[in-house]
Amino acid sequence: MAKTIGILTGGGDCPGLNAVIRAVVRRADANGWDAVAVREGWRGLVEGIFEDLGPREVSGILPRGGTIIGTSRTNPFKLEGGPEKVLQNFRDRELDALVAIGGEDTLGVAARLYEEHQLPVVGVPKTIDNDLNGTDYTFGFDTAVTIATEAIDRLHTTAESHNRVMVVEVMGRHAGWIAVMSGIAGGADVILIPEQKTTVEAACEELRKRHARGKSFSIVVVSEGYELTYESGESQRVAGEARATDQFGHVVLGGVGEALGREIEAHTGFETRVTVLGHVQRGGSPTPRDRVLATRFGLKAADLALAGEFGQMAALRGDDIVAVSLAEATAELKLVTSEWYDVAKAFFG
Ligand code: F6P
Repeated sequence: MAKTIGILTGGGDCPGLNAVIRAVVRRADANGWDAVAVREGWRGLVEGIFEDLGPREVSGILPRGGTIIGTSRTNPFKLEGGPEKVLQNFRDRELDALVAIGGEDTLGVAARLYEEHQLPVVGVPKTIDNDLNGTDYTFGFDTAVTIATEAIDRLHTTAESHNRVMVVEVMGRHAGWIAVMSGIAGGADVILIPEQKTTVEAACEELRKRHARGKSFSIVVVSEGYELTYESGESQRVAGEARATDQFGHVVLGGVGEALGREIEAHTGFETRVTVLGHVQRGGSPTPRDRVLATRFGLKAADLALAGEFGQMAALRGDDIVAVSLAEATAELKLVTSEWYDVAKAFFG
């Protein structure tokens, strides 16, 4: 009887998920394995929701955003008997291996299921936030940075026409990678990220210096996880309205852009407008770079699963796709280094 590989996508969706699914299915099929979609992340294994996946089902999905097999932020370890249900449904569906495509949360669950219950699982690093350890880049990030950069380019022309300060709030949760990369690429005048305690006063001073040099407009990129920080030493995290947490304990972020815009206007007197890019950064078709990266990750993950090398994650090191342990990948977040922030800072003001 043919062996079967399960595939699930968990956490926030991102462009490139379908490219991974296609690659896993095609490589499995070429080796005589069947593939099965586990619907909506870990929820599909807790509740036993499966769907057959073959070359026909994955045909034409390479450029498509989102995930054709659905996703959720379900955490089996937060549910009564969750891990046991996962294992039972895995056995009942007669799966031989599982490819889990996700970020720190989804892969954190995979790491625990492997360590504590010997679930035969391999991981693929997905997130627009690029904050997974053990890999130079995650797929989805390049697309998000491309979208944010295009937005910054567009805001430049309207900022200049109206002599305004434009604040752009981007995603990234606790990592400022999207802000730093899109800010550098888009020529931002100030970039504020969670990892760096740049104060509101210092940011305003950069804008004043720039305007004193004769510039009449500015672009400020702020990462959603940046805490408004003041010279007095006070700081304030601005979270979303509901301040809700998901099953992984994350507060819904968002809103710092508006708060920062008000502060800039109050401190400098420069007319300020705010744009929150939000989920636009996660939608739509992946860039060619993300399609290629996702495809290479998918092939590697399938190869690891076929070879029985579980507890591993496909990763990018330099230009090579390698395997790293899920434990290493989920041990800590990969945050923006001061070297990268220095590149951005060279163009402040
Ligand atoms: O982790 C990806 C991400 O887009 C973060 O950048 C953001 O904070 C979060 O997900 C938003 O989550 P949701 O789609 O559940 O609002």
